Amino acid sequence: MERGKFITFEGPEGAGKSTQAAMLIAKLEAHGIEVIYTREPGGTKLGEAIRGILQYNAANEDPCPESEVLLFEASRAQLVRHVIDPALARGAWVLCDRFADSTTAYQGFGRGFPVDLMETINRFAIGSAVPDMTILLDVNVSLGMQRCAKRQVGQKIKYDRIESEALAFHEKVRQGYLELARRYPERFRKVDAMRLPEPIAEDIWKLVHDAFLAKK
Ligand SMILES: Nc1ncnc2c1ncn2[C@@H]1O[C@H](COP(=O)(O)OP(=O)(O)OP(=O)(O)O)[C@@H](O)[C@H]1O
Ligand SMILES: [Mg+2]
Repeated sequence: MERGKFITFEGPEGAGKSTQAAMLIAKLEAHGIEVIYTREPGGTKLGEAIRGILQYNAANEDPCPESEVLLFEASRAQLVRHVIDPALARGAWVLCDRFADSTTAYQGFGRGFPVDLMETINRFAIGSAVPDMTILLDVNVSLGMQRCAKRQVGQKIKYDRIESEALAFHEKVRQGYLELARRYPERFRKVDAMRLPEPIAEDIWKLVHDAFLAKK
């Protein structure tokens, strides 16, 4: 049985990762391919417990930034061993909505932990589960935030001090992703996500089809 393909979607908030992942899954399934979709943190019992801690303060105590990195990595390591590796081994494809590069972009480039340290911890967590293709949906920060604000009805974007800090942080994240795409050109495919969903999905389909499905 040929190993399945492992594709990850990365990019800032509001880039359209979840939207595009769903569109790609529909096309792959129409081709008769079994696709497993995962989202971090979570996807295993341990991962869901960690999700509760990271997103809903289930431990009733904020993790320090170092703990936050390690909790994400623990969830990721479990997802790789329990879900991703077995799926790929039986020939299914795996689409991850964010994966290891998110830690490098957010905690490394964004928050300022050493980028090479984030990459080392990622390598430990993911083992051999290196994505075959990472689709970077590139969007400028204000458009990404506008989309997220629209999604959360009633939320207003106010450019006060906190919001400006948030903008600067998200800009670092965006630039970090672009740097990763330059650093790993064999794995990354950058897609202009500042367009309507359909043309973005067409570009992604062409990239995936040409790389993995076209008769060689
Ligand atoms: N190309 C697009 N043009 C306009 N709106 C879009 C586009 N793609 C997605 N959206 C809308 O923008 C919002 C954010 O999209 P989506 O949830 O897919 O982004 P995301 O990258 O998964 O964000 P997050 O990082 O917060 O999970 C959604 O309301 C979605 O419907
Ligand atoms: Mg999403």
